[in-house]
Amino acid sequence: MREINASIPFDKALWRQDIAASKAHVAMLGACGVVSGEDAITIRDGLDQVAAEYEVSGVPENWDLEDIHMTTEGRLAELIGPVAGRLHTARSRNDQVATDFRLWVRDAVDQADAGLEALQQALVARAGEHADSIMPGFTHLQTAQPVTLGHHLMAYYEMIGRDRSRFADARKRMNRSPLGAAALAGTGFPIDRVMTAQALGFDGPTDNSLDSVSDRDFALDYLMAAAQCSLHLSRLAEEFIIWASQPFGFVALPDSLSTGSSIMPQKKNPDAAELVRGHSGRIVGCLTSLMITMKGLPLAYSKDMQDDKPPVFEAAGLLALSIAAMTGMVAETRFRTDRMRGAAELGFATATDLADWLVREGNIPFREAHHITGSAVKLAEQRGVALDQLPLDDLKAIDSRIDERVFKALSVEASVAARGSHGGTAPEQVRLRVAEARLALGLE
Ligand code: ARG
Repeated sequence: MREINASIPFDKALWRQDIAASKAHVAMLGACGVVSGEDAITIRDGLDQVAAEYEVSGVPENWDLEDIHMTTEGRLAELIGPVAGRLHTARSRNDQVATDFRLWVRDAVDQADAGLEALQQALVARAGEHADSIMPGFTHLQTAQPVTLGHHLMAYYEMIGRDRSRFADARKRMNRSPLGAAALAGTGFPIDRVMTAQALGFDGPTDNSLDSVSDRDFALDYLMAAAQCSLHLSRLAEEFIIWASQPFGFVALPDSLSTGSSIMPQKKNPDAAELVRGHSGRIVGCLTSLMITMKGLPLAYSKDMQDDKPPVFEAAGLLALSIAAMTGMVAETRFRTDRMRGAAELGFATATDLADWLVREGNIPFREAHHITGSAVKLAEQRGVALDQLPLDDLKAIDSRIDERVFKALSVEASVAARGSHGGTAPEQVRLRVAEARLALGLE
């Protein structure tokens, strides 16, 4: 029983939140006259002393005391005597743990947001450098149309922006105080739940005591935002892994985020990116773990809910590492723009530009233009040349409406420059987006 029951090995991570919530609670008990002002001060000072001990020596791990709440109260009693017993008036460990954990998750949200902001700054900085750098854009991982590297990086800026807004949403929703819900039914003591809510930075108290001690939506909201964010980080990591492979050779990853091989001397492996990709699987696992813990629980508190913490702690650690790794990768990777541009010239990436030109200049319906372009691509493929290297006479033989002006449209530069629609890949559009992003990030 000792072993299965003890949560102190992991919930000691909540000690700062536990002390803060207890101090808010006892100050309120004093203000409301539930305990004397003198006792409230003794307890507060005792809690400060416990915190100072934890700070220096860590939280002692005694399984007989089960959890951080009993551990702190036990040490408080050793320090200040029986008056410590008044702290737990008008509360239960059920509202206590719900409060502590909300505070912890709220901090985790703030940390994620700060990390993601730094990642966005790195993305925007590199995108600004590479608004004109041309690379192949892919669909199905097959060369599709030329894009700019800046445009590609700014796609991740958008994704991370949505992640930040999901975390912000979650934060807003979770920021209510369950403290004072007591075990499940509320309390008969004349407490002031608004006062404790304010002291702990909550927007107000929760409105149903049963829900207050049964609810772990805040942890699930966090994990859902974390999981979705980790998918984005994983996709970015995957791109760096592909780009770093020798046949691509689009990037030289920073040495600081790579490793060598113990047998192959030439190797530089993208381990950090691979671990980010791997961690996303574990973070999704943390989310499903807690969802399944919660799915069959009747109101109100059940001990299953003690299992809420390990997946959240694990996910938060993995996410923080993943964000830091990808921020370093984006900031320090050397983009081999010559290789990227060379690759953009292969694979007939400007075929759509030929079709568009026929529509524009020849007033040919797009489907027909698509067909004509197909013939041109086939010919270029047979000759082993790029589209813009086909002699004009050969193009004219395919369709007489083609003239020499077409060559202007077939360069990769012309191709990206032409895509100036809102949100398109044209360098001028990318620069606009980068400028807006810099403003939004407070960099201007
Ligand atoms: N260690 C428990 C947890 O983490 C604290 C709440 C215990 N409440 C109870 N009634 N046993 O969930």
